Amino acid sequence: MKFIAALLQWKYRRPALSKIMRIILGVGGGIAAYKSCDLASKLVQAGHEVFTVMTPSALQFVGPLTFRALTDNPVGVISTDEPMGSLSHVKMARWADLIVIAPLTQNLLARLSLGLSSDLLSLIFQGYTGPSVVAPAMESEMWLSPQTRARLTELQKERALSIVGPHQGRLASGQTGVGRMAEPQEIMNMIWSLTRPKTLQGRVVLVTTGATWEHFDPVRILTNPSTGAVGLNLARELSARGARVILIHGPRIDEPPWPGVEYQEVVSARDMFQAVEARIHEADTMIGAAAVSDFRPVEAFSEKQKKGQIDMLWPMTTNPDIMAEIGAKYHGSKILIGFAAETEKVFSAAIEKMRAKHLDAIVANQVGRHQGFGDSEYEAQIILSEGHSDNLRSSNKDELANHLADLLKFLKPKISSGTNS
Ligand code: C5P
Repeated sequence: MKFIAALLQWKYRRPALSKIMRIILGVGGGIAAYKSCDLASKLVQAGHEVFTVMTPSALQFVGPLTFRALTDNPVGVISTDEPMGSLSHVKMARWADLIVIAPLTQNLLARLSLGLSSDLLSLIFQGYTGPSVVAPAMESEMWLSPQTRARLTELQKERALSIVGPHQGRLASGQTGVGRMAEPQEIMNMIWSLTRPKTLQGRVVLVTTGATWEHFDPVRILTNPSTGAVGLNLARELSARGARVILIHGPRIDEPPWPGVEYQEVVSARDMFQAVEARIHEADTMIGAAAVSDFRPVEAFSEKQKKGQIDMLWPMTTNPDIMAEIGAKYHGSKILIGFAAETEKVFSAAIEKMRAKHLDAIVANQVGRHQGFGDSEYEAQIILSEGHSDNLRSSNKDELANHLADLLKFLKPKISSGTNS
């Protein structure tokens, strides 16, 4: 009964997928200000309402007209500017759901931290009490200086501040070092993360994703069309919800690192199994979204095999079933969720697999040449163990990630670590 009640709660209290916000985009005076034009455009395209406030020195790098056109709102600079009418600094501080400052220069950081309100942005910030996302950008020496450290620590103590970057890379001086502003997409990702409910704080989830590669020789492999998109979406959602995510993935997963996700690349099914076994004790939940190769060549040659040199009948053997092995060892002590990708009889095959592998839930999805992989059409259904099947269907990978994250709120392990054996 308790389980059913939890399930109903899960179904009816689902949080909104995205949140439209009122954002003040603060632009500091650094060369990275040119990237903030792209950021302004991305924010508007995501549906947010944006007012831009530039510092006087930012005007030397980009023009206010650019932001005016991109956001369709007036731009403020000096303390007496009135982009929102009289007493704009008060109105804007109350209006904003979020302040995003990119680039955050050393001088601007010092002003914000010390409470100096010499320009409109600093002035608004002094009266603002909500969350902020800042993207620092400066030369390495400045970023690492004790003054910058002290100002940042101070500001973090007093404000709900999310810091994105800076990264290692080419700096304005032409040198390479830490101090390069995060790319606009990464800042967007951070903003999106803030809108997700923190329902999974304290949880550690191990996710497998992507295809494995089984080598015949150094240049030939047995694999499948999986791009790892399901697991990547899931990892982002879980980490945005506050979970620590260990993502063990196959080769060639190409995406910028997501904050809070620990990536570990493997090649073959056996490598993946070894990695899962080595790290499962850290997690309370495992979600096996990987399209693991069921077979591998008995022998993998270390040199490229020439045509005619090999017998065309290549003996194969089976790979370990990672989810089944983990299920046998950890069911009851960890939450285990698998996937069942099938071309026919999807539902019955999924239930059978869930039982055989001792899973708490399974995601059944139809696959085919033009279905299930990469960006193609996608449909999945979550089935829960103990005879409870859920009619909830996900028609895309973001929706599935959201549903699974919601479900984890109610599927909690009885003990946080250890095995049944
Ligand atoms: O039996 P089947 O491969 O269809 O099962 C799919 C589920 O089992 C997925 O969760 C997949 O990640 C996992 N699996 C595995 N190791 C294998 C094969 C599948 O962990 N060798």
